Amino acid sequence: MPRYFVDLADLAEARGVDARKFSVGIGQEKMGVPPPDEDVVTMGASAAREALEQVDQDKIDTLMFATESGIDQSKAAAIYVHHLLGLPRNCKSFEIKQACCGSTAALQMALALVAQKPDRKVLIVASDVARYGLNSSGEPTQGAGAVALVISAQPRVMTLDPEWGAYTEDVMDFWRPNYMDEAVVDGKFSIKVYLKALTESWAQYARESGRTFADHDRFCYHLPFTRMGEKAHQQLAKLAGVTEPDMSLLAPGLHYNRIIGNSYTASLYIGLISMLENTAADLSGQRVGLFSYGSGCMAAYFSGVVSAGYRHALRMDRMQTQFETRQALTVAEYETFYQHALPRDGQRYKTPHHTTGPFRLSGMESHKRLYESTVTAAAEPTNIQVAAAG
Ligand code: HMG
Repeated sequence: MPRYFVDLADLAEARGVDARKFSVGIGQEKMGVPPPDEDVVTMGASAAREALEQVDQDKIDTLMFATESGIDQSKAAAIYVHHLLGLPRNCKSFEIKQACCGSTAALQMALALVAQKPDRKVLIVASDVARYGLNSSGEPTQGAGAVALVISAQPRVMTLDPEWGAYTEDVMDFWRPNYMDEAVVDGKFSIKVYLKALTESWAQYARESGRTFADHDRFCYHLPFTRMGEKAHQQLAKLAGVTEPDMSLLAPGLHYNRIIGNSYTASLYIGLISMLENTAADLSGQRVGLFSYGSGCMAAYFSGVVSAGYRHALRMDRMQTQFETRQALTVAEYETFYQHALPRDGQRYKTPHHTTGPFRLSGMESHKRLYESTVTAAAEPTNIQVAAAG
């Protein structure tokens, strides 16, 4: 997650809104804000670096980068991450897009690849910056973050079930034209479509798996804001004839998103990590229902069983350190970051140094983004120039 955040109580005051609308109505407390030298590549590479710590990199057969905050129309963000992490040359690297559901599409493809070659692994990076207009109704649902998933035939965290439900419909609930930096959204309509897609994808999943609501011990949902997850869970329970679902089962999975904000492709998986890290009970062997929604729209319902020993793969102490060392921005400082723009004329430009992560966007030259690793040589950061596509 980025090093900076805005407290939504401060945003509410600045926008003249009752703070409870954000904390209770949409269920958000803070939103992550990327500084000018942080983008989807730096956040994604940082997440992947941690995920690969105990993994033999030579086994990584494919790197899929899911994002809807792409930095280039041609060149995949995956190629930059491949370079920054020094992954093997034989590793295929490409980008996938379908709003917040791109990461889940990547996951399903990764399962097929690993089934084909069980000795290989697939790295999925999901990284996004959720950005709406200043002073718009979407503004408090902004955020940013990345997740990296290693898909293997010997899963340490969760074994996914083979049954999936999917739903696709051509709708304009949320989109971002190429010429815009902020998403355009029909907010209330997007909530309706999200819930419809949940009903439809769940129906196919339930039909194919023969499982009922009661066959799942926990539930995780795509979380544009945490109240949406609660609404989704209430709806799913209602479909199953459960009038008063145990909402306390949902709470541990909402915790991180409540203080990070929407991270689009990463959101569902940040929710899953939040649930695994913040549930005191041992979840080994428990079945988790997962709902992924991407505006536009495509959705997927699927499930997985938590592996015995999953706690060894968690990084709770590091998450806590990241939360504790984050810095609050005033609304004016956030607006300055928000308005920062990279040059579009090819001039040489050095980005101000803000992030403390292992990678940063150090600048631009001749329309090429320049990334810097701050960990390869601590005293003297290496400037990694990455050639343009073409
Ligand atoms: P809004 O019009 O500002 O808010 O938009 P509202 O008037 O609907 O109020 C929100 C809630 O706060 C309501 O509760 C109010 O009653 C309550 P609800 O009726 O929904 O239960 N409220 C209060 N509660 C306590 N005290 C108060 C108070 N005042 C009001 N004083 C909206 C809200 C979410 C629409 C807006 O923020 C938005 O457009 N966000 C962006 C779109 C979005 O997140 N959509 C979610 C579904 S689509 C999705 O998940 C995909 C996405 O992640 C993108 C992708 O796939 O790539 C977005």
